[in-house]
Amino acid sequence: MADSVHLRAAGCSLVILVEPDRLPRIRHWGADLGSLSAADLQGLNLLSDPQSALPGELPAAEVAVVAEAWTGWFGRAGLKGSREGRSWSPRFSTTGVTVDGRPVSGHVESGPGVLWCEAVDADADLALEVEFELLAAGLVRVRVRLINQGPVFELDELSINLPVPSQATEILDFGGRWGMERQAQRHAFTVGTHLRESRRGRTGLDAATVLHAMGPGATFGAGEVWGVHVGWSGNHRHFAEHDSTGVRLLGGGELLLPGEVRLARGEGYETPWLYASYGVGLDAVAHRFHRFLRDRPDHVSAERPVTLNVWEAVYFDHDLHRLTALVDRAAAVGVERFVLDDGWFGARRDARAGLGDWTVSPDAWPDGLHPLVNAVRGHGMQFGLWFEPEMVNLDSDLARAHPDWIMAARSELPLEQRNQHVLNLSIPECYAAIRDQLVAAISEYDVDYVKWDHNRDHIEAGLQLDGGVPAEHEQTLAVYHLLDELKNRFPRLEIESCAAGGGRIDLGILERTDRVWVSDCIDPLERQRLLRWTGQLVPPELMGSHIGSAQSHTTQRTHGLAFRAMTALFGHYGIEWDLTAATDDELRELSEWIGIYKQHRGLINSGTVVRGPDPADNLWLHGVVAEDRSQAIYCVAAMSWGVASTPPRARLRGLDPTRRYQVRPIVAGQAPHRFQPTRWWNDSQSTTTGAVLEHVGVQLPNLLPEHAILLQARTLDAPRSSSAE
Ligand code: GLA
Repeated sequence: MADSVHLRAAGCSLVILVEPDRLPRIRHWGADLGSLSAADLQGLNLLSDPQSALPGELPAAEVAVVAEAWTGWFGRAGLKGSREGRSWSPRFSTTGVTVDGRPVSGHVESGPGVLWCEAVDADADLALEVEFELLAAGLVRVRVRLINQGPVFELDELSINLPVPSQATEILDFGGRWGMERQAQRHAFTVGTHLRESRRGRTGLDAATVLHAMGPGATFGAGEVWGVHVGWSGNHRHFAEHDSTGVRLLGGGELLLPGEVRLARGEGYETPWLYASYGVGLDAVAHRFHRFLRDRPDHVSAERPVTLNVWEAVYFDHDLHRLTALVDRAAAVGVERFVLDDGWFGARRDARAGLGDWTVSPDAWPDGLHPLVNAVRGHGMQFGLWFEPEMVNLDSDLARAHPDWIMAARSELPLEQRNQHVLNLSIPECYAAIRDQLVAAISEYDVDYVKWDHNRDHIEAGLQLDGGVPAEHEQTLAVYHLLDELKNRFPRLEIESCAAGGGRIDLGILERTDRVWVSDCIDPLERQRLLRWTGQLVPPELMGSHIGSAQSHTTQRTHGLAFRAMTALFGHYGIEWDLTAATDDELRELSEWIGIYKQHRGLINSGTVVRGPDPADNLWLHGVVAEDRSQAIYCVAAMSWGVASTPPRARLRGLDPTRRYQVRPIVAGQAPHRFQPTRWWNDSQSTTTGAVLEHVGVQLPNLLPEHAILLQARTLDAPRSSSAE
């Protein structure tokens, strides 16, 4: 008889079937099933047992967490590898199971917790440890460790998968490119495999990010949605698989290069975590990721400091007087953190030289960075500094001294990208040289914040010193190790993950960093979309969200300050604009917007994100609702000129239906920006219940394209009933 374990947390249930002669299988991952007795769980097992196929066919395969071919599964195998052509079709038996460390027998129910299983295939001399964790956020995560108990085993792939029901008929994930990350793509979940692989040595500007399967027509607020995410910052894959027997799976893991993991006797390989989030609506799936990140012990404070990054203001033109003028202007408008970007070190006068030499450039900074840092600190601001620690230009002292530290798979170097190559941080001497330079610079300037960049894809990333053997796996671990070491050494240090914009956004890097740079594109029209979809994984306080100059450096489109400022508001607010070229009116309006951010950042950086329902195809709505639902802020953005001549109402989701709220616009500068105010715009009687705001909605004013409005809803009374949903 099978044992089953039922884990429950935050509206999610996970039921895992454990039998001695096979690997654990998931019978249910989805809606909370309520408390189940042993008899209920036994009934669940019986009632959900797969139906055998037609006579003459193999029995129905129920795919285990690591898919095995012996079960009659013809889809992707979870474990691929061999011992010189043998032991390639493993058949594991479970030998031990614990829940939160206690051995399991019979049917068990538990709150958030860890189910741990060990399994062996004595014939193949392999052992497996599987760890399922249901976190307090209702987020599931699974990882597997393979241990070789025989002669060398060459591992090609170890992937994890979770089943989704036949009601999941659509797929949603993301593609992207530089300046246009996380473009949503949605289509039918047809027979075959939707495979998303990244061989870029970083998460990728085109990463799948979260791969969802969902009910037909699921929206931000409705329809069942299951999503998976591989928490790994190097090569990886996500897949959605649907076979002709009707099985539907979501899965993923690290993508290993040929010969990359060769396990000697007694050695093991551990997969990254595969995260799995279930919810009704895409927002609910996102909330579990957000809550998980917010539950991290060192999660940032909601009072995120307003940041100015100098990249688009000065590029490589580092000049103390120019930058000091920028510091003064930044302080005057209310900036709290000043970040010096690329160009301060080595021979880095442009993108052709200097990477790898992390000492201050005597040409650009004859007196070091202290005069600038003193100016920044003089205004009470924090100081941040840019690094790209994994990279090197051939024109650098480091590359000249250690050409063999550059990653390459053959005697020629790989193709250059942005004039740079990748340093092999798995070489201990190389790792130490980079670490020591970083530690020296961070210590000398008491750096509060590091912008950690990674501006090229890896190609042929091998270890030159060992004939070019692949080194991606070790490289990713070395980067994690370096980040961990810096965090231990400088506990107050905040680190941003940037990779030519949003090319390294995943839960592996977010285990050790404090924000991501969403994109190099700061055009607010693009940013509306970028923030909307990056928010599927990342909460607002971890998304670097800046106000650029009027004309976007990336798209050359021009936008008014209000649209730029309102768009950037729903993230970790900042500026990427040469304020020394801004007019007095612009500076005045900018400081008003910064004041608005400071007033509302506690809510924006801790509340529940809601997206949609969009009032119209061209009108996008999103907002943040306080956890206690006492207040919320919404933005409606006109992405283009509307089809209808009069605007619709906007439905405000997420409020307490029984409480009364006052709805007011939030304005700054020259508002109301050439639209005709609605009746309620200037009327403080605009007060009603959360139910009215959600189901009747708020009449919108006419909005010009590429303009937006902000609405604030605030309760006037205490909750009427604590059970109100
Ligand atoms: C990348 C980053 C930018 C900037 C430049 C500097 O492109 O995304 O924000 O830091 O590098 O070279």
